[in-house]
Amino acid sequence: MALILDGKTTAAAWRAELAAEISALKAAHGIVPGLAVVWVGENPASAVYVRNKGRAAEEAGIRSSLVHLPESASQHELESTLDRLGADPLVHGILVQLPLPPGLAAEAAQERIPPAKDVDCLHPVNQGLLALGRPRFVSATPLGIVELLRRYAVPVSGAHAVIIGRSAIVGRPLAALLSRRGPLGDATVTLCHSRTRDLAAIARSADILVAASGQPDLVTAAMVRPGATVIDVGINRVPAPGTPSGSRLVGDVDFAAVAAVAGAVTPVPGGVGPMTIAALVHNTVAAARALAGAGTSRAAATAGGAHVSAGGR
Ligand SMILES: NC(=O)c1ccc[n+]([C@@H]2O[C@H](COP(=O)([O-])OP(=O)(O)OC[C@H]3O[C@@H](n4cnc5c(N)ncnc54)[C@H](OP(=O)(O)O)[C@@H]3O)[C@@H](O)[C@H]2O)c1
Repeated sequence: MALILDGKTTAAAWRAELAAEISALKAAHGIVPGLAVVWVGENPASAVYVRNKGRAAEEAGIRSSLVHLPESASQHELESTLDRLGADPLVHGILVQLPLPPGLAAEAAQERIPPAKDVDCLHPVNQGLLALGRPRFVSATPLGIVELLRRYAVPVSGAHAVIIGRSAIVGRPLAALLSRRGPLGDATVTLCHSRTRDLAAIARSADILVAASGQPDLVTAAMVRPGATVIDVGINRVPAPGTPSGSRLVGDVDFAAVAAVAGAVTPVPGGVGPMTIAALVHNTVAAARALAGAGTSRAAATAGGAHVSAGGR
């Protein structure tokens, strides 16, 4: 039976460390990191994510604010809001909750966030720095995944990492992060997508298999090499007749079958999700430090790349 990579407990430990760092930042420099989450419309899944992010940030000692715009908000209103937050010295991190309602352009909104406050790492400048191997920020989900691997001492250097999914928020930045030179990287990365030929054979060659496709049960036991580490990023709501809500959350991995083959696997829920939220807290602290000229934390400095790790190795 595979080792369960417990994202919930690991994230709680990480957030506690970040809370201590925030207290120290406050004591030494008088800085309280500020995070603004911009949410447009009423998407019910977004409501949960926005609430969880705000709660985690506040529990760690971050000053968190939710800017909620109506479904009818125009692109101009959204961008004016981002301009205002960009100019606010008490706001160090800004993120726009996706998806946006139809008619609003997410990319134009992301580009409106000053790169120094872009804690979701979606601004082209930050994506470019990451692609060059010298990240300022790393999107929260890839950072959370790498931190989970580090805390469970999963060997990454020299490993073959296969990532299923090439989105700008998960697959692509994770590929850049794992393949970069140095700590937390040095993997050989294969980035797969819906046009990939013989996905199963490629997946079976992975030491680390990351599923970020949004397809329930895409990864079967037959796609996993015995002993491999499997990271399930997917969050999919599927019908569950007979349950009170009539649905349940599953990942992209057939968890029960894969757990019998893999060396380690993340559950859904309780795996990558909580690590993503802790990574957002980490990025906000890093942004506050950088904007206030307070230097990087000891741990980030030892990781050899701006704000990439909360812990040295
Ligand atoms: N746990 C977290 O914190 C967290 C954070 C972000 C996202 N998620 C979840 O992770 C999943 C992926 O999110 P995303 O935003 O990256 O999704 P996305 O933008 O929809 O991208 C999905 C990717 O998977 C690929 N894909 C889809 N079906 C495939 C198949 N049958 N075989 C191979 N590749 C396939 C797509 O290929 P093409 O490019 O060819 O279309 C695309 O590259 C979703 O379930 C999302 O809810 C979780």
